[in-house]
Amino acid sequence: MLAQLSLLFLFVSFVFRAALNPTDANVDALLGGVEKPRVLLLTAHPDDECMFFTPTLSSLLVSPSISKDTEKSNARRNAEVYSLCLSVGDAEGLGAIRRDELARSLDVLGVAESKRWVVDHPDLPDNITLSWDEQLVAETIRPYVLENKITTILTFDRKGVSSHPNHASLLRGAANSVASLPQTIARPRLFSLITVPVLHKYIGPFSAVLAKFDLVSGALLKRFGVQPPSNLPVFVSGVDEYKTALRAMKQHESQLVWFRWLYVSFSRYMWVNEWVEVSPSSAGRPPRTA
Ligand SMILES: *[C@@H]1O[C@H](CO)[C@@H](O)[C@H](O)[C@H]1NC(C)=O
Repeated sequence: MLAQLSLLFLFVSFVFRAALNPTDANVDALLGGVEKPRVLLLTAHPDDECMFFTPTLSSLLVSPSISKDTEKSNARRNAEVYSLCLSVGDAEGLGAIRRDELARSLDVLGVAESKRWVVDHPDLPDNITLSWDEQLVAETIRPYVLENKITTILTFDRKGVSSHPNHASLLRGAANSVASLPQTIARPRLFSLITVPVLHKYIGPFSAVLAKFDLVSGALLKRFGVQPPSNLPVFVSGVDEYKTALRAMKQHESQLVWFRWLYVSFSRYMWVNEWVEVSPSSAGRPPRTA
């Protein structure tokens, strides 16, 4: 009885500790080992930044309290974070309001005013039935990448988490943009946010616990000389980071309908971001038709 109780206690305390503290893995891969990483987050609509990317943003922007490895944490503190949103989110005619909401959300997340932009282009409309032209996306991104000497671009993958075609257009646009940069400059690395199967998408805080369990077991394996199953960059929020995401989300007042509250309660992306590097040449090619 006592043994079972103490096992239960150990388990519960593990879950609590896992839920309270943020953690991450392989961040250096994402930042590219450069001295001053300049990271551009590329989104499609106001609120993408806090609904999907807070675990990453809060880790890159806030001084990491968990990492005891000072070299790593210094590298992270050195990261400059930029945000480029390719629409004002005008599908319901609320573009002007949503532009302001985005600014307030980025204030909460800590992206400086001089490092954030919203594009409002007639051919890049917020529309759930439209894919955006990759070439136009590429040309739109290009000056921001060049002028700010971006070293890492972060965006959705081809499934765009929610399958919104606007989200799904960003990766190939970014890839085309990177591929078109002059050979003479260092090309930014491109990472896409992994879309998980729908069953995994809505288990909320449990995603954080599971992801942390993966990281801990991966680290253990490594210690015993076994290659861990994954070297992907991963960011997992703790309770404070989750609260930051909620506060940022609350800035998007026009979007706070009941199902968004369901989303923020249960979505994995409020807790966990996993990234995979994408080669610009392979992602830039149009999909093969059979
Ligand atoms: C989205 O695009 C479709 C197809 O072009 C169009 O019929 C629809 O009116 C657009 N919706 C909005 C909100 O602009």
